[in-house]
Amino acid sequence: MEGKVVSIRDVFNLSEGSEVTIRGWVYRKRVLKDKVFLVVRDGSGIVQVVFDKSLGEPFNIASKLNIESSIILTGVTKREPRAPGGVEVHAKGINWYYAGYEFPINEDAAKADSEYLLDVRHLWLRSRRMWAVLRVRHTVFGAIHEFFRSRGYFEVQGPMFVSAAVEGGATLFPVEYFDMKNVYLTQSSQFYLEVLIYSLEKVYTVAPSFRAEKSRTRRHLTEFWHAEAEEAWLQFDGLMNFLEDLITYIVKRVLDERQEELRLLGRDTRVLENVKPPFHRIDYDEAIRILQSKGVGIKWGDDIGADEERVLTMQFDKPILLHHFPERVKAFYHRNDPSRPETTLSVDLLAPEGYGEVIGGGERIYDYEELLSKIKKFGLNPEDYYWYLDLRKYGSVPHSGFGLGIDRLVMWICGLDHIRDAVPFPRDVRRVKP
Ligand code: 4AD
Ligand code: MG
Repeated sequence: MEGKVVSIRDVFNLSEGSEVTIRGWVYRKRVLKDKVFLVVRDGSGIVQVVFDKSLGEPFNIASKLNIESSIILTGVTKREPRAPGGVEVHAKGINWYYAGYEFPINEDAAKADSEYLLDVRHLWLRSRRMWAVLRVRHTVFGAIHEFFRSRGYFEVQGPMFVSAAVEGGATLFPVEYFDMKNVYLTQSSQFYLEVLIYSLEKVYTVAPSFRAEKSRTRRHLTEFWHAEAEEAWLQFDGLMNFLEDLITYIVKRVLDERQEELRLLGRDTRVLENVKPPFHRIDYDEAIRILQSKGVGIKWGDDIGADEERVLTMQFDKPILLHHFPERVKAFYHRNDPSRPETTLSVDLLAPEGYGEVIGGGERIYDYEELLSKIKKFGLNPEDYYWYLDLRKYGSVPHSGFGLGIDRLVMWICGLDHIRDAVPFPRDVRRVKP
């Protein structure tokens, strides 16, 4: 395994005739009478390698290797306009290889059955498509941390085992927890972040959340990654500005860093380039009017679901901040607008092009009596929320927060049809493997 290994991306920056050692996996193979073309991939990219028959043994090995065999080889760079990236490597020798079994994935099987690629996900993750998505996802996660930290937020962690619902009982996952009753996987770390603002003021977390979603949709997982934040003293307009800046920052980071990946995914980046403040701010009343004018059968008080969001977001070329939802379509903790108490200081951020909700947030109720009466009004048991109520007894402050569904954001940024493809190991009602 001698020789200094060059990452494949760097091969393209070397001068013609450079000697290189590269290592990776056989991505494509074409065997002619006196030449074998292997496209070799590593974590950084792909390059075409040519084996000439005159090489003897290395030629014989190359012609026999199955797709996805691993290999270390040496060769010389050569400009070749017909090769991907305009450069190829003329092999001189094979230093090491591990011949793989016949690789089971072929594109035809994938086209025939949408479940197939999920069954072989552990192998499909090597595909160029998943490679590109995972690299965008990496940038998105990094950008989230960068942004919060640049704004003075502290990163914190909440528990995953919890004892009460944040977002309603219907999607709670019960877990067997020794001999204790009513233990669940968390739907959101929000309440724990609210606890922590009294110590740190501005807090965020990036963690999984769990929802027992019984229906399989294009944008629901049972386990998803959630970036959540709470900030003491932050009020509604400040929250909306923050969301604009956050999404703008993340999208810009991806555009700066991941052009190649977006191209590979066939993403039209014009919409992404358009993501700059101000976003469209539309209140719920206006949204209902727009939807009605488009022939959607909806009336004031109804929830705005995925179908309605699709209609709305197709009207605009930028993300939408949809705010002031009616009290009864939003969870109990949302603060009612004192000037219009039938509505709440709530906001969803909708991604354009039909994607819809990626963020939900708002101002929280901070008054003790107000929170207690809303818990009761929503038919919940105040005892389940004793510690959440305590926060309103001891030095309560106005505050706001939100939750960003990171997988949904990646789905939109990459222009994917299904959230499952934004996640390496998706979990839904029918799938917990691989
Ligand atoms: O709107 P949701 O349910 O709000 C909350 O959980 C709040 N407690 C968040 C907060 O204020 N701290 O979820 C927030 C976001 C959604 O906008 C969506 O992007 C994502 O989480 N999300 C899901 N993503 C994938 N699969 C699911 N089943 C999701 N449920 C919510
Ligand atoms: Mg929501």
